[in-house]
Amino acid sequence: MSDPLKKKNKRSSAHLLQRLRYELLVQLDEVMDSQWLYTNPDADNLDEWKDDITETLTGILRERKVKLRGEDKFLRELLRILQIYGPISGALLDPTVSEIMIVGPEKIYVEREGKLDRIPQRLPSENASIQLIRNILHHNHREIEEGVSMIDARLSDGSRLNAVFAPVAVEGSMLTIRKFRQDIINATDLVDRDTLSPAMVEFLQVAVESHLNIIVGGGTGSGKTTMLNVLSSYIPEGERIITIEDTAELQLSQDHVGRMEVMPPNRFGEGGVPIDQLFRNSLRMRPDRIVVGECRGKEAFDMLQAMNTGHDGSMTTLHANSARDILTRLENMVLMAGYGLPTEAVRRQIGTAIHLLFHMRRFPDGSRKLSSITEITGLQGDTISTQELFTFREEGRSADGTVQGRFLPASMAPKFFDRLREEGKSPPVELFR
Ligand SMILES: Nc1ncnc2c1ncn2[C@@H]1O[C@H](COP(=O)(O)OP(=O)(O)OP(=O)(O)O)[C@@H](O)[C@H]1O
Ligand SMILES: [Mg+2]
Repeated sequence: MSDPLKKKNKRSSAHLLQRLRYELLVQLDEVMDSQWLYTNPDADNLDEWKDDITETLTGILRERKVKLRGEDKFLRELLRILQIYGPISGALLDPTVSEIMIVGPEKIYVEREGKLDRIPQRLPSENASIQLIRNILHHNHREIEEGVSMIDARLSDGSRLNAVFAPVAVEGSMLTIRKFRQDIINATDLVDRDTLSPAMVEFLQVAVESHLNIIVGGGTGSGKTTMLNVLSSYIPEGERIITIEDTAELQLSQDHVGRMEVMPPNRFGEGGVPIDQLFRNSLRMRPDRIVVGECRGKEAFDMLQAMNTGHDGSMTTLHANSARDILTRLENMVLMAGYGLPTEAVRRQIGTAIHLLFHMRRFPDGSRKLSSITEITGLQGDTISTQELFTFREEGRSADGTVQGRFLPASMAPKFFDRLREEGKSPPVELFR
């Protein structure tokens, strides 16, 4: 068994070290040019550069009276980051930055608290841009294949990387890194950010433990994957979880997790393993739960079928603009999968397979909210009937633009509570008015 406390301590000390690295880098940049190597990639006095930086950093540590166990290793790691990440090292270490975007060598942007900012760093040339991407991939055991124009990768710390090269990228190669956030990983973190209410947390815990099939919908970057991660964290230990993702982002803390990641085809379109194939395979792996990172195509059909044949407790995310839109998108995915099913049959399948819809929304102030939780209550003809269980009601903006509002529960308890009662359980009806 893993010790959750130990895990937590390990997490917070890694967090502190990362923070210290960032502070040192900021101080370092005040006294010397840590980017020198980047602007002089062919320099032969690399060792000198390293010595200079190490000496300066050691000086800063002494000044701050910081004593570190394994100081050498700590400094080596910082040097390594500088050497690989050059102009984006600061953004990478900055705990307030959630995303880093290079748009051609001249322009680098970061996202903080949901807002975009251009940073002063730049790359000396397009070649340096490509070299930067190559370096990052290389240190994460990936290479850029000849002739490839787009690449998706996962970095060893759980961050997600996407690169697009010329000529597809018109004004120079583009790089997007979505950093793995250590600070938003559990429900408490989400409540602290007003993403949902404590009552909703209590509810979703019951929903996950009761093996409901859940779809999280929302726009790009609205926090779907983060929500899926939090939902999955309520899967009880002792169940076998299989995860299937395009790029493995989920960070589950349970012991028994089998993770699978899509393999993209090579540039001749050969040798790939897509999500639907992984999904079908997962059914032969005795799963208690199947968590699919994002549902985009043919796999929708396989998922619905599995959910309808007793594989309950599965979860996924998909791109959608509202709770209702989740159903429409799902329907379209199945219709487009090419099995020739009539629309009514697809709707029936959706209506019986899915139990809950979670809709995530990203607001102009950068906040993300679970704007509704909707229960699918049944079918009327070929119309799927739903009931909203929680909604966020916006009540204006404060002076600084922060969205104000409240999460309101429905007046009626969810239908699935009836089933729980029949099973002799006592679901939290008091959450509903
Ligand atoms: N509740 C939240 N509050 C604030 N920031 C959040 C929240 N949830 C996620 N984020 C941040 O927003 C960014 C996008 O989150 P996430 O990857 O979960 O979104 P997504 O909807 O899955 O995005 P995509 O559409 O690209 O798959 C990340 O930087 C993440 O840390
Ligand atoms: Mg996502």
